[in-house]
Amino acid sequence: MHLGSVSHKLGVGFSIFSLLVQVNAAVTVYHQTPTVPTPTSAAADAEYTGAAAYNPTTLIPPPVPSPLNTQFTLQLQSGGDVQGLSIPQEGSFLGFSIEMSVANQVLGKNSTFIQVPFLNLMSNLAKRAGRVTVRVGGNTQETAELVDSTPDGRMLEKNISGASNPTQTPPLVFTNDLLHLMRKISSFVDVRWFLGIPFLLDTPNRLDIAEQGQAILGDYLIGLQAGNEPDLYARHGHRDQSYGPFDYFGEFANLVDALTNSSSKNQQTNKNLLIGPNIAYADWTPEQVWDTGFIDSFDANLKYLAVENYPSDNCAAQFNTGGTVRNPQDVFPSYLDHNAGKSIIDKFRNSTALAAQKGKRFLMFETNTASCGGFPGVSDVFGAALWGIDYSLQMATAGFGGALMHVGGQNVFYNPFTPPPTNQSTFHQWTVGPIYYSALAVAETLAPASSSFPASAQTPTTQIMDLNANDGDIHTPAYAVYENGVPVRVGIVNFVTDPSGASDLSVSIAVGGDGQGPKEVKVKYVFTVFVDCWLWGSCIGMRRYLLASSVSQKGNYTWAGQTFGGHFDSDGRPIGTENITTVSCSPACIITVPAPSYVLVFLTPNSDAEAGGVVAATFSTTAQTRVRNTATIDPAVLATSNGGFQKGKLGSTSPGSNSAASVGPSVVLATLLAMALGVGLVGAMRS
Ligand SMILES: *[C@@H]1O[C@H](CO)[C@@H](O)[C@H](O)[C@H]1NC(C)=O
Ligand SMILES: *[C@@H]1O[C@H](CO)[C@@H](O)[C@H](O)[C@H]1NC(C)=O
Ligand SMILES: *[C@@H]1O[C@H](CO)[C@@H](O)[C@H](O)[C@H]1NC(C)=O
Ligand SMILES: *[C@@H]1O[C@H](CO)[C@@H](O)[C@H](O)[C@H]1NC(C)=O
Ligand SMILES: *[C@@H]1O[C@H](CO)[C@@H](O)[C@H](O)[C@H]1NC(C)=O
Ligand SMILES: *[C@@H]1O[C@H](CO)[C@@H](O)[C@H](O)[C@H]1NC(C)=O
Ligand SMILES: *[C@@H]1O[C@H](CO)[C@@H](O)[C@H](O)[C@H]1NC(C)=O
Repeated sequence: MHLGSVSHKLGVGFSIFSLLVQVNAAVTVYHQTPTVPTPTSAAADAEYTGAAAYNPTTLIPPPVPSPLNTQFTLQLQSGGDVQGLSIPQEGSFLGFSIEMSVANQVLGKNSTFIQVPFLNLMSNLAKRAGRVTVRVGGNTQETAELVDSTPDGRMLEKNISGASNPTQTPPLVFTNDLLHLMRKISSFVDVRWFLGIPFLLDTPNRLDIAEQGQAILGDYLIGLQAGNEPDLYARHGHRDQSYGPFDYFGEFANLVDALTNSSSKNQQTNKNLLIGPNIAYADWTPEQVWDTGFIDSFDANLKYLAVENYPSDNCAAQFNTGGTVRNPQDVFPSYLDHNAGKSIIDKFRNSTALAAQKGKRFLMFETNTASCGGFPGVSDVFGAALWGIDYSLQMATAGFGGALMHVGGQNVFYNPFTPPPTNQSTFHQWTVGPIYYSALAVAETLAPASSSFPASAQTPTTQIMDLNANDGDIHTPAYAVYENGVPVRVGIVNFVTDPSGASDLSVSIAVGGDGQGPKEVKVKYVFTVFVDCWLWGSCIGMRRYLLASSVSQKGNYTWAGQTFGGHFDSDGRPIGTENITTVSCSPACIITVPAPSYVLVFLTPNSDAEAGGVVAATFSTTAQTRVRNTATIDPAVLATSNGGFQKGKLGSTSPGSNSAASVGPSVVLATLLAMALGVGLVGAMRS
């Protein structure tokens, strides 16, 4: 029996293995023809020549670790001074970073053509977490130009002939219809946005995205990035070779000046929404930036501090950079234990502590399994879902205040969700990747039980701690989530693949101090169901399983019994009936954690309401057909769309039946959306 004592501080007892992969900068190359990585294992599909997002490569799961202890107790402290709890966290901790150049594929073509699957995917999360945070940016934000109109009349265009810099980032031109599209999305689902001010175009900075972004998005704009990976500017030839943290400091100061000037002209420009330094941990360390006095000097202007980091890169295989090609089969095991997240996070622990001291939230602004699109068979399989959960929860324990998983186009392996290629949008649906399941699981793990959303009205009271479970076995990490000092949920990961069942874990959850005698339990836990558990022998532990047969499985994972299917299967709504299991805690709460899986256990009396009832408002569309007005939204749902969704109801599919006459402005929006989809799906064929 291994007792995970709550007195363990974070990280104590971890071995010092580190990933065998190198930390690398987020170099993203944007308009390459998809290339097929050299098949490197028996399971790789040598015939496949399609887009990376649908690559069929399947790898061999790592062997069952030996020895593996499969029975242990998680002893949770309740009340008193609980040591090792994180900063307060929100259910929206894990969001998405959408490369600006693909915003027209993921969000919608324009403000009257919103991608309904995207709305559904966001709605599933918002229902759990209150809201979703999404960044539109990346390298392509750095040269993006807000224009009155584009040559082709579209909302966003790439100028591929203008791509000349080393990352081959095409300059973007976009109209403010992109901002209107984002605002409209927020009127359906509570999505909060991050944007970036282009740092590479010219000096002084172009402020129009800040000015118009604030005017159009209002409170839905929660931060503006000032520079994307400035520690790579010199390496990529955007600045002199001598460009260092002090130079960035100077440019940041100029930006603040420019915003001050702008705000004196335009009352609406807030100069205190900035996010910095956003370094990739490539050529500078955060400490070098802090040493310039950055945080104190710009205290008033800095809404968040942020970094961007990927644990590895696949640039050599994807883009023939001439570097070392990493074999996906070789790197796969390095993603499948607790050290994977730890090795990314450790280098930022001083910075998250400093941020807390300075009263700033510290974000992982862009991350995923590996830069340059991730690895086939690693980034797009169930193992990546477990990796994403464990990595995110470790970030939450380590003082990060949020993280954004990057979304690219068809040419990447790591997408949380991928729209079908444009010329297939009439007969294919979206592909939902493992990282989206991570987001669902993290949202439910961290979201407060009292769900009087919108979350913006709440002060976060959720804290999380790493339990150093199973004597710190890196294959079986576990977390306790507390609200107001009381343990409310437990999350357990089993990274092991073992179809025999011999590696399923039997985890006993105990709440209380030494002895756990009923007296003590009664005194401390009078308002929790565990009182019943220990005193009357009938207690509940709600479990939600994230399940698949193997860490190598591609698609069709289930979260509490529901799935988004495999390639091209999803309109963003979960398929299947939600399956929540009730565990009797008499004489003890023993939770089975299958190998592999993530299990979330709800401990509180609210569990019933909390673990069930996750029915998000959804938006229906039939993308396979070209029937007019296939998108339907119930006007009543829209009328309360901003955080107050009722159980999802679908409207009619008949053309024109969403009458705009009687129900007010949001119905006009609904009708516009429905019509735009009807027209737009046909339009998609032509583009
Ligand atoms: C694209 O970039 C090229 C080279 O910089 C430039 O000459 C051309 O005008 C640009 N086209 C558009 C549509 O902006
Ligand atoms: C701000 O305005 C002042 C006065 O007009 C001007 O001198 C200064 O150059 C401006 N700064 C920036 C960064 O635009
Ligand atoms: C973090 O701080 C400690 C103590 O000041 C120092 O020894 C260590 O090098 C720092 N870590 C990093 C990654 O800079
Ligand atoms: C879609 O476009 C790609 C690239 O041009 C082409 O290879 C593919 O065959 C097209 N698919 C369909 C169904 O038209
Ligand atoms: C997902 O399940 C469906 C239905 O069982 C099956 O047809 C499909 O091949 C599976 N997809 C993947 C990617 O495993
Ligand atoms: C619900 O999940 C449990 C645990 O995985 C499983 O034993 C049970 O068969 C599932 N029930 C249904 C109806 O799928
Ligand atoms: C929005 O995009 C759709 C689909 O491409 C197109 O039919 C429609 O005209 C566009 N609307 C505007 C206002 O550009």
